[in-house]
Amino acid sequence: AAPVRYEAEAATISQGAVESNHAGYSGTGFVNFQAVTGSYVEFTVDSAQAANARLDFRYANGTTASRPMDITVNGTSVADDLAFPGTGAWTSWKNVSADAVLKAGSNRIRALTANGDGPNLDQLTVTASGPADTEKP
Ligand code: GCU
Repeated sequence: AAPVRYEAEAATISQGAVESNHAGYSGTGFVNFQAVTGSYVEFTVDSAQAANARLDFRYANGTTASRPMDITVNGTSVADDLAFPGTGAWTSWKNVSADAVLKAGSNRIRALTANGDGPNLDQLTVTASGPADTEKP
């Protein structure tokens, strides 16, 4: 299926702030997780059917240390401590990916700071790749 993009600044945000002081973001800004462990962005993603999907998180991390995030879909972990390595500058945006299974209907895709702070998060792109793989754990 065609990729669908969701802006972080339009998602549900807990303990993060929408900012726009580093160029290169899409939409009207990005989310700064404000160095709060447990702060998160939760995207609501509708899927017509149960489907395997790739999640691409577009982010910037102007430090040299990874800013790991926990990714959950409908409350279930799909990636624990997913690495968001340095991108070289706060104005340099890259993607980090995780695989997920979506259910038919509304899905809650959450990116939560695992350890102190997260990257600046710009966007989630969801690319469904076919019917759900029921063999998947
Ligand atoms: C800087 C940068 C912010 C970023 C922060 C961080 O202050 O300007 O955009 O969120 O570092 O370390 O997370």
